[in-house]
Amino acid sequence: MPETGEIAPILAGIGDRVTEDWLRNWLADPKAMKHGTNMPNLIDAKTPEGLRKAADLAAFLAASKLGGEKLPPPDPALAKAGGVVFHELGCVACHDQTADDASRVPLNNVASKYLPGQLMAYLKKPEAFHPFTAMPNFQLSDEEASSLAAYLTASSEGKGTELGYEFPAGDAARGAEVAASLHCGTCHPGLPGGVPSAPALDAVFKADWAEKGCVSESDKRPELPVMNFGEGEREGLLAFSKAGLESLKKDSAAEFAERQVTAKRCTACHAMDGNASGLDSLHFTTAGLAAHVEGLDERVDQSRPPLTFVGEMLFSSYIESMLAGTAQPRPRPWLGTRMPAFPAYAKPLAEGLSRVHGFEPGVPVKVEVDPALAEIGEKLVSAEGFGCTTCHGIGDQEPTAAFEVGAVNFALTPGRLREEFHHRWMDNPAAVTPGSKMPRYADGNESQRTDILEGDARKQYEAIWQWLHSQ
Ligand code: HEC
Ligand code: HEC
Ligand code: HEC
Ligand code: HEC
Repeated sequence: MPETGEIAPILAGIGDRVTEDWLRNWLADPKAMKHGTNMPNLIDAKTPEGLRKAADLAAFLAASKLGGEKLPPPDPALAKAGGVVFHELGCVACHDQTADDASRVPLNNVASKYLPGQLMAYLKKPEAFHPFTAMPNFQLSDEEASSLAAYLTASSEGKGTELGYEFPAGDAARGAEVAASLHCGTCHPGLPGGVPSAPALDAVFKADWAEKGCVSESDKRPELPVMNFGEGEREGLLAFSKAGLESLKKDSAAEFAERQVTAKRCTACHAMDGNASGLDSLHFTTAGLAAHVEGLDERVDQSRPPLTFVGEMLFSSYIESMLAGTAQPRPRPWLGTRMPAFPAYAKPLAEGLSRVHGFEPGVPVKVEVDPALAEIGEKLVSAEGFGCTTCHGIGDQEPTAAFEVGAVNFALTPGRLREEFHHRWMDNPAAVTPGSKMPRYADGNESQRTDILEGDARKQYEAIWQWLHSQ
């Protein structure tokens, strides 16, 4: 499983980025600070010894500095503009500002966590110190990032989680020793403390995980970490312990993609397999942030493309460019939301999404164009034919009347679409994307245009395909 190669955040220079106070609280109880976190509780903050360890560790981490320029704090005057960006980009799909909703990531500790200027830096590149983060990169402009930072700081000011602990003064040198003894370096590259001298894997798999060790609920030995399992994770591990290690060695690209679609919350923004996206039912909750902006309600249909058939629709090279954030230009410039990048996952996830549909990962193939057929195709897409150009632009040529719905510019299609999908789509768009506003042009194979290519719809779609590839 490729996930076994993932690492926890790199903490070098963490002292430049976050406050010591936040670090103490985080180490005392990561789960209380952020439900859903994968970082285990390693100390018991209910004991004076635990509080001292948290304070020492925090002092040790706060002293880890890489230097770098001092950045100005966010300008509070930009907060209102930042609220608009927060709404427009659909951040609420994954985030909850109040920390009440356990299924979304809380943002209430942002003001007390980040040192001046560091939130903006984080938003511009969330993967900088955590390559496998689930927070995607929105390729924000400086203006967007600084206004978002101002908005998030203002909206979380005074709302930080109160754990109520009184910490003793921390000592960095002792903190380094605590880090080594708690084996922080097992997960965080560069921190002291490698893999503890644990029993051999064979022995681990022979033991009953329900009774003994980190997974057990009944084993209360104080030196064990308290794993912050999510729903079903403990049960999953118990089942795995009985099945043995073999499944970890199976590398199935399709299964990887299925796991990652969940882990990276793709369905927060995308409808998939008949389920609406999370954003569909959450987006209205932030609408007030942008209520003062005129014209937002007058835009064309704002729905995002569903992911149900994406692996059979698009070449994996194109999916990869969308996931890497390198696809230029954006296929749907009319959308207020935007596809954020997940750079560490672009290639394997794109390949996996193709495999889910039984396709080999693929790149655009050169189509040998038949000029006579392409000419017929050109006529079919024009106002003289089906009038596809009312909704679809062609390169610099704008669509003639796309008032309700936007459609991808035909100049992009050859680099995106697989041929099989083109035919399936043309045959019945609403069968592929329920509710699609693209009309259907034939009934079965009987085209509405009986005067062209004997009214054979499939031949007409082939002519359109040839034209698409002749430009
Ligand atoms: C697809 C889900 C998703 C979307 C959309 C998303 N985020 Fe995140 N974000 C996360 C996750 C998950 C984390 C926690 C980091 C991790 O688990 O690796 C996070 C972390 C953060 C953090 C750091 C919080 C902390 O405690 O340090 C900030 C700030 C943040 N996101 C802001 C935003 C903003 C602003 C937007 C909109 C532009 C946004 N996020 C959109 C998933 C998302
Ligand atoms: C089992 C692996 C594991 C161990 C052991 C571990 N951590 Fe973590 N740690 C994580 C993960 C995963 C995250 C990211 C969690 C998240 O974003 O929700 C994290 C996050 C953190 C963060 C927050 C980084 C940020 O910018 O938000 C700090 C600080 C930290 N760990 C310090 C430590 C220290 C100190 C130790 C040893 C006492 C330790 N960790 C042990 C897995 C681990
Ligand atoms: C913050 C919301 C958001 C999240 C989270 C998100 N997407 Fe997207 N995605 C979009 C938007 C908006 C578009 C359309 C972008 C455009 O066409 O300009 C898009 C487009 C795409 C496309 C291209 C589809 C096409 O026909 O052009 C693919 C592939 C894709 N997303 C896959 C994913 C995967 C896989 C994930 C999870 C790893 C994911 N997306 C997470 C918003 C999101
Ligand atoms: C009423 C507007 C409308 C008309 C007219 C229309 N389409 Fe579409 N078309 C759409 C929409 C909407 C989509 C899906 C857009 C999305 O994925 O966001 C689409 C998608 C497509 C795609 C997929 C393109 C890609 O790169 O993702 C092709 C190919 C296509 N249409 C061909 C045609 C052809 C050929 C005609 C004329 C025979 C036509 N369309 C007429 C609205 C229209």
